[in-house]
Amino acid sequence: MKKNLIYVRKIILPTISFGIILFAYHHFYKSSYNHLDLTTFNKLIPSNASRDQQNGTYLWSLRLADENYFRIASLLACRTVEYARGSQKYQMSTCSNFSTNEFTIANTLQAQKWLFEHQHPRNCSNKRFAIIRKFAWSGFGSTIHQIVWAFGKALTDDRIGVYETPGDWIYGNCKSINPDCFFLPITNCSVPTVVDGTRTIYINANIGQWKDPVHPPVFRNRTFNWYRAQLIFYLMRYKPETWTEVQKIISASWKTSSIDSFRPFIAVYVRRSDKITGREMDRAFSLKEYFDLFDADARRANVSNIYVNSEDPKAFDEFLQLNRQKQGYYKLFSIKTRKNIVFSSLLRMPRNQRGQIIYEFLTDLFIEANADLHAGTLTSNWCRLVDEWRLTLGKATIYYTPEKKYLFR
Ligand SMILES: *[C@@H]1O[C@H](CO)[C@@H](O)[C@H](O)[C@H]1NC(C)=O
Ligand SMILES: *[C@@H]1O[C@H](CO)[C@@H](O)[C@H](O)[C@H]1NC(C)=O
Ligand SMILES: *[C@@H]1O[C@H](CO)[C@@H](O)[C@H](O)[C@H]1NC(C)=O
Ligand SMILES: *[C@@H]1O[C@H](CO)[C@@H](O)[C@H](O)[C@H]1NC(C)=O
Ligand SMILES: *[C@@H]1O[C@H](CO)[C@@H](O)[C@H](O)[C@H]1NC(C)=O
Ligand SMILES: *[C@@H]1O[C@H](CO)[C@@H](O)[C@H](O)[C@H]1NC(C)=O
Ligand SMILES: *[C@@H]1O[C@H](CO)[C@@H](O)[C@H](O)[C@H]1NC(C)=O
Repeated sequence: MKKNLIYVRKIILPTISFGIILFAYHHFYKSSYNHLDLTTFNKLIPSNASRDQQNGTYLWSLRLADENYFRIASLLACRTVEYARGSQKYQMSTCSNFSTNEFTIANTLQAQKWLFEHQHPRNCSNKRFAIIRKFAWSGFGSTIHQIVWAFGKALTDDRIGVYETPGDWIYGNCKSINPDCFFLPITNCSVPTVVDGTRTIYINANIGQWKDPVHPPVFRNRTFNWYRAQLIFYLMRYKPETWTEVQKIISASWKTSSIDSFRPFIAVYVRRSDKITGREMDRAFSLKEYFDLFDADARRANVSNIYVNSEDPKAFDEFLQLNRQKQGYYKLFSIKTRKNIVFSSLLRMPRNQRGQIIYEFLTDLFIEANADLHAGTLTSNWCRLVDEWRLTLGKATIYYTPEKKYLFR
């Protein structure tokens, strides 16, 4: 066990560090809310979804950026964010120039529709396939990011991505032992039984495929960050069983079952412990350092509900102390989850218990995606997942992050 952990640290963690934000400033842009596109896209929304979900404000059961979000975003100062993929860098500064903002709902709908249709053809018999397998043995956010690049590589090669079944995903808590345990099926074609290296190939999801071309021609003009976010969003469409578990965790934590009753709110994810000891993060940031970044904006926009999540229980004690200094301005809510859970503790658990923790993670992701504002650190693959989801939903106000510098090993 110990030996494998060292492998994970040395091999996987340094390679997951592409595409991180180097400097972050804030920006905002106006919405181009395209109702026509939403309507045409409704066929992708599960048919037994509630009426709310069918009227075009939701995608894959998630609420898209709405008027309330855009009203808050419009009250905030402009900032610029720089994303990087290796030595390539590009800025997101959509406040000054709306036309260059890629993260519009219309673009998301186009991409999600394209991805869905590519993966759900009428006839699978004349298609080419890539079987995604050898799932990375790493933290949940990290392994997802690696699967995404294997998928991107399949798409570039005009192949339908399928998961090896049964797979070897450490988080798989069902018979297929792959991401289909939590998410809607990646495709409706069956997994080819013959792997001839031409029509069907294998792509391993543990070796940093993002160094290879991953954009199919239709998305070749899109930035790395936009494209990755779209792929993540497609692969992580929660399936009904997952929604049921998420709902259970929410009901066990609060009287209300609707996250909407907390809006507007800011979500803060405080990542510490193994990210610090593993030296991926420069250092641990105090809760105050996060608050100092958004406090003025939160007050300007009258946002006082705050969702905090951390694997470090100390973060919650810090909140009580900090909020006293702020005359109790903030109203905290959080979900009841097990604390001190990091990759090494997940590995020691039986598969079904690990699955339960993943439901807690996915509940957190759902809540953070619904937040109006958010803070975190992008060395954390988990925080990046949240960022990618939010951007895809049309929430382009970027993370408040105390991190300006990332350490690589
Ligand atoms: C969709 O449903 C929500 C909730 O019932 C409602 O507030 C919203 O106005 C509806 N949107 C459209 C476009 O009908
Ligand atoms: C906005 O961006 C577009 C596309 O890059 C460019 O053509 C245009 O000149 C920019 N406008 C401003 C006001 O910077
Ligand atoms: C896959 O799903 C799509 C969309 O629901 C459908 O049009 C297509 O016929 C299905 N293909 C197969 C092979 O079942
Ligand atoms: C799918 O395509 C194959 C080969 O082109 C054909 O033989 C088969 O009948 C098609 N199946 C359907 C359901 O259209
Ligand atoms: C990509 O950009 C080039 C140059 O601006 C343009 O000619 C081409 O049509 C674009 N391709 C797509 C798929 O949007
Ligand atoms: C939709 O219907 C299917 C089949 O009846 C059911 O298994 C699933 O739980 C339903 N999904 C939701 C979100 O209610
Ligand atoms: C914030 O709340 C105060 C007091 O209720 C109100 O006067 C102000 O207009 C609100 N500001 C915004 C941006 O909603």
